[in-house]
Amino acid sequence: MTVPSLASSLSDTVTAAAARLGLPDLAPQVRRSEHADFQADGVLAAARLLRRSPRDVAAEVVAALPADGPVAAAGVAGPGFVNLDLTDRALLAQLAGRLAAPRLGVGTPEAGVVTVIDYSQPNIAKEMHVGHLRSTIIGDALVRILEHLGGTVVRRNHIGDWGTQFGMLIQYQVEHPAPQTTDDAATMRRLATLYRQARSEFDADPAFADRARRRVVALQAGDPATVAAWRDIVAESTRYFTDVYDRLGVRLTGADAVGESAYNTALPDVAAELERRAVAVTSDGALCVFFDDVRGPDGDPTPLIVRKRDGGFGYAATDLAALRQRVAELHADRLLYVVDARQALHFRMVFDTARRAGWLPSAVPAVHVAFGTVLGPDGRPFKTRAGDTVRLVDLLTEAVDRAREVVAAKNPGLTGAALHERARQVGIGAVKYADLATGRTRDYTYDPQRMLALTGNTGVYLQYAHARVRSILARAGGADATVDPTAALEPAERALILDLDAFADTLTEVVAGYEPHRLCAYLYRLAQTFTAFYERCPVLRAEQPWRGNRLALCRLTGDTLRIGLGLLGIDAPDQL
Ligand code: ARG
Repeated sequence: MTVPSLASSLSDTVTAAAARLGLPDLAPQVRRSEHADFQADGVLAAARLLRRSPRDVAAEVVAALPADGPVAAAGVAGPGFVNLDLTDRALLAQLAGRLAAPRLGVGTPEAGVVTVIDYSQPNIAKEMHVGHLRSTIIGDALVRILEHLGGTVVRRNHIGDWGTQFGMLIQYQVEHPAPQTTDDAATMRRLATLYRQARSEFDADPAFADRARRRVVALQAGDPATVAAWRDIVAESTRYFTDVYDRLGVRLTGADAVGESAYNTALPDVAAELERRAVAVTSDGALCVFFDDVRGPDGDPTPLIVRKRDGGFGYAATDLAALRQRVAELHADRLLYVVDARQALHFRMVFDTARRAGWLPSAVPAVHVAFGTVLGPDGRPFKTRAGDTVRLVDLLTEAVDRAREVVAAKNPGLTGAALHERARQVGIGAVKYADLATGRTRDYTYDPQRMLALTGNTGVYLQYAHARVRSILARAGGADATVDPTAALEPAERALILDLDAFADTLTEVVAGYEPHRLCAYLYRLAQTFTAFYERCPVLRAEQPWRGNRLALCRLTGDTLRIGLGLLGIDAPDQL
């Protein structure tokens, strides 16, 4: 059962009043305000169309509001805004309604909508780097939020498991056989070394490069021994990725891994269809798509290369085949690609090509959910001191180790497995929150000390806020958090109810721009509003009916924080 937000109910109230005045097109635009509970901005635009004074129209709207409804006071402000204050009773009824409803009364606006989301996308035989971390964390949060709003989400881990580099890897392995291990960390070290050595031999020895190229041909032709060697390398890497996903606690599974190689058989047809529809043309032996507005620094058009001169297909062809399949066979209503902002041009060209080819109907949005770069302490893209990629596992291990110190200092009684588990929840939560709390297109500096600070906009701060609420509820000994709607409210209680009620609308906003940081900002503000409430309004020492109402506020705050953190992929333990 959906509980409409106070903002949306008020919007309906204002719309109805305007309709009675003969202003059917007034869009109220209700939002929170510093001067009243809410403010409606829409009168300004409506009055402009009518060529009337906005303040006069606003006064008429105020007068037309029903006197016995949820509005306690209304007035005209500024150039023609309508200020709206709600009755205590309306606020308390809303609190009771959210507590009684399943899922806090959050609606399911995504019901019936199929989203195919492409995220994580590591590359076989290469270490996952912080860019893959961002993609994985942001993608996971979007998946959880879309599903919470009733949506159907198809996850696609577009693993880089194909390409000419496999010829060199397999050939090197054949010439220098090395035993596989079952230990994940050792596996990845082995593969990373294999990659480095194969690369340098490829660059140094033309005869090896030739043999590697013949290996690519053998792989593409399906030579059994070569394909088996390729499978082994893919399986080894995939085991390692799964281990990282488990540590991170993200929803990706083996079934979601549909790598670039999965589209191989579709590539010739993709090329043929593009040619047939005259979307792609042969230029210099390569099959290319040109765009009026995409040009290089010399002014020459920069094409999207579908098929290279040597007949090979690359990254673009694979993305086109995947896109076509996601719409035609997976019936996507929306396509999301959580990928580094530096690939913006690639996606613009891929989406444009797909639209021209008729594979991407105008009703289906395709969105590059771009994100910025993770920077190191020196303000440059995050690398180790030796200039290598920072290993994701090392990063996560460090975060959990630091979290263990933070947790142990706060709670010396915690030891053994309980401490270990708490450290994991706090450490992984800190990494995720620091990533999600920054506007996604911005770069941010990876700073393990700051992300584990107990105060400020951090995951740990929110986990503590949640645990504090749980401890208040525990001390109440299960006493009833029943709402008495006839009680009078303190300003701090009103502010908390208003913030709590905005949860559902916040989730809708997150989805509108694919911006998880809006949920982070909301939860941070909620925790602060709760703190202010708790400082001013005693809960356990209060008399009835205030005690029951305040316990109800604690419960809804605790549940909102827990569900909100959960939608970011962050655990909210009852104690820290
Ligand atoms: N594997 C690529 C990389 O590591 C990212 C793939 C992004 N997804 C896609 N459908 N192109 O850069």
